Amino acid sequence: MDKILVHGGKSLEGDVRIGGSKNSALPILAATLLTKEKCVIDRVPDLSDIHYMLTILSSLGAEVERASGVVQIRAEKIITEAPYEIVRKMRASVCILGPLLGREKSAKVSLPGGCVIGDRPIDLHLKGFEALGAKVTVKGGDIFLHADKLKGARINLRGRHGPTVLGTGNIMMAAVLAEGTTVIEGAAEEPEVVDLARFLTAMGGRISGAGTQHIEIEGVAELHGANHTVIPDRIEAGTFLVAGAIAGTRVTITRTEPEHLGAVIHALKEAGFNLSHTSDTVTISPNGARKPLHLETIPYPGFPTDMQAQFCAMLATMNGTSVVTETVFPQRFMHVAELKRMGANIELIDHHATIHGVERLSGAPVMASDLRASAALVLAALPADGVTEINRVYHIDRGYEAIDEKLNGLGAHIERVKAK
Ligand code: EPU
Repeated sequence: MDKILVHGGKSLEGDVRIGGSKNSALPILAATLLTKEKCVIDRVPDLSDIHYMLTILSSLGAEVERASGVVQIRAEKIITEAPYEIVRKMRASVCILGPLLGREKSAKVSLPGGCVIGDRPIDLHLKGFEALGAKVTVKGGDIFLHADKLKGARINLRGRHGPTVLGTGNIMMAAVLAEGTTVIEGAAEEPEVVDLARFLTAMGGRISGAGTQHIEIEGVAELHGANHTVIPDRIEAGTFLVAGAIAGTRVTITRTEPEHLGAVIHALKEAGFNLSHTSDTVTISPNGARKPLHLETIPYPGFPTDMQAQFCAMLATMNGTSVVTETVFPQRFMHVAELKRMGANIELIDHHATIHGVERLSGAPVMASDLRASAALVLAALPADGVTEINRVYHIDRGYEAIDEKLNGLGAHIERVKAK
């Protein structure tokens, strides 16, 4: 397995270009199953999760061509079965359920396995499919969906931990080809849901309200092919802003959407950094005194759970005591034990991390456990004394395009050691 060596202590300065959003691209690629016609999706990031999704689409019978960031897909004839071997590598493979049910009124998809960020049930997705008229059975590790026809319904998708992002996408993708009107209450408001709705609309779908908690979908008989450009990745953008905060003199992220970064920019300003933006760039630079934070992850437009680990890394080296509360995935604190190996002083009680900032972290061998936790370790290593060896970096390659090269472009010293 590849590993990354971060030689700490280098100062970052310069511009870094943000790629297309992983979490937008995944359901949008799945949505191409809804039509027999060709779809062309631009700004698809080069990530292993995207590769898994394209493999799933091919295994269902779609013709997939990829050249740099552009993916062309024609799903003229498809099958409706995706076995465990194909879906097990990625939780997001559940988002093929909605399109298969919408188009073929049938699906047999294996349940993806566990996930280190905590329990990730799909009960809300299944509840939504049932409300649309599907018979849902879970047996032998497989989900079976079947409907003679789908009929619009009123569905509340708010769960114990808030709305569901992929669940909202899944129900939109099934309902777009249902008879009549579907109303989703408690819908996720994330920009990725809005991006999916834009693509479905370009395919001939009739959707209003995406980006609010109330989405209405007027079913149509058929969708057609469409072209679409994926939005910039707000979590990659946020991660580079934190890199700038931790180790930068001035870092500018380009080709980004500042509007999607509101809560992250607000938190960084509160922590004492200078931030300025144009229509598609954000610049961060230090501003003298830094302040500890009280942060709570909340669904969009709140502070994103996908930025929690990176902020823990930043707060670990800032004077004072910060408290970080995780409400979306209460067990998502795998990075804490690894940060402690680097000298961080963090107490974890339930879903609250109390972080007492220390002057300096020190390089150590650490283990990447999931995507955002791995990013946090890279960030923590940037200003640390000595060398940090991060193992199992395949986690980071799932969601960050060449993070090592991009950070080196800003002045970091990171080596990737290929597995023999
Ligand atoms: N939940 C349920 N029942 C469901 C679905 C979700 O109880 O049927 C709970 C979850 O357990 C969690 C909360 O609802 O406590 C929110 O989960 P959500 O369904 O919104 O998560 P997701 O759609 O599976 C997406 C992103 C995650 C991101 C979350 C929250 C993709 C591919 N994944 O997951 O991204 O953390 O929304 O914003 O879009 C990442 O990129 O590192 C990542 C994990």
